[in-house]
Amino acid sequence: MKAPPRLQSLVDEGLIDTVVRQLMSGKEAMVYVVRCGEETRCAKVYKEADKRSFRQAVDYTENRRVRNSRETRAMAKGTRFGRQVTEAIWQSAEVDALYRLAAAGVRVPVPYNFLEGVLLMELVTDANGDAAPRLNDVAFTREEAVQHHASLLKEVVRMLCAGVVHGDLSEFNVLLAADGPVVIDLPQAVDAAGNNHAKRMLLRDVENLRNFFGQFAPELLGTHYGDEIWHLYERGLLRVESVLTGTHARDTGPVDLGNVLREVDDAREQEAARRLRMQLPRL
Ligand SMILES: Nc1ncnc2c1ncn2[C@@H]1O[C@H](COP(=O)(O)OP(=O)(O)O)[C@@H](O)[C@H]1O
Ligand SMILES: [Mg+2]
Repeated sequence: MKAPPRLQSLVDEGLIDTVVRQLMSGKEAMVYVVRCGEETRCAKVYKEADKRSFRQAVDYTENRRVRNSRETRAMAKGTRFGRQVTEAIWQSAEVDALYRLAAAGVRVPVPYNFLEGVLLMELVTDANGDAAPRLNDVAFTREEAVQHHASLLKEVVRMLCAGVVHGDLSEFNVLLAADGPVVIDLPQAVDAAGNNHAKRMLLRDVENLRNFFGQFAPELLGTHYGDEIWHLYERGLLRVESVLTGTHARDTGPVDLGNVLREVDDAREQEAARRLRMQLPRL
């Protein structure tokens, strides 16, 4: 196809040879399949701020590193220059996150280049070499659901160990590649340590995974991995190898019936042991 105007400069620079086809027009970006020499890649063209939806909310931009106080003031005032700075930070945030996460061993698309609001990255493919489907486009058996849920939780932990919360993780932002799930769409990713909303965002990410895979494996619906992961993270105890149980009970909020029953069982056993020790008759 004829290169759309936003990709023309990358063609002129020789970073792209040809534009094969448009893959998607998402909420915030247009995604194209492109050829670069021998390779097929993916070009994500960010929409301009006023054409995007909700994600550039204060949660996500809080504590983003900015170069100097002039830029900070301009952003706060919302001047034209300030909006340009905000825009540049928003767009480059995804590239930053991709490099950071790839270095931490998280399976994300390999980033190749970022130029004029276009991110060139690996095209994630299925076993046939076609663009990989989103989780939402696939039906799973119970076993597959349990397995993918576990491996994505591992990725969430790996991300958090690298200091990153995805912030928009769901069945729409995970692709199913030939070798397993790949996490995409990271412009809103936040610094876990410096953002007051990080905990809420992490809990929501984990809940989205649970609710999606829970459709195929209902036993997942009673799990509380988010609370458990954050609890360990806050105490500096979270490791990539941490073994999770999914049974961490919240301090407040809905009662985990399984946990309560286990505690009742424990109490009953302790009482029975005490009676045995004291040589009291059994109840
Ligand atoms: N690296 C990639 N490989 C294959 N498909 C991709 C890739 N990146 C994005 N896509 C496709 O484009 C869609 C939109 O990309 P995404 O990064 O989620 O942007 P948006 O902000 O528009 O949701 C995805 O749902 C996916 O189908
Ligand atoms: Mg998306």
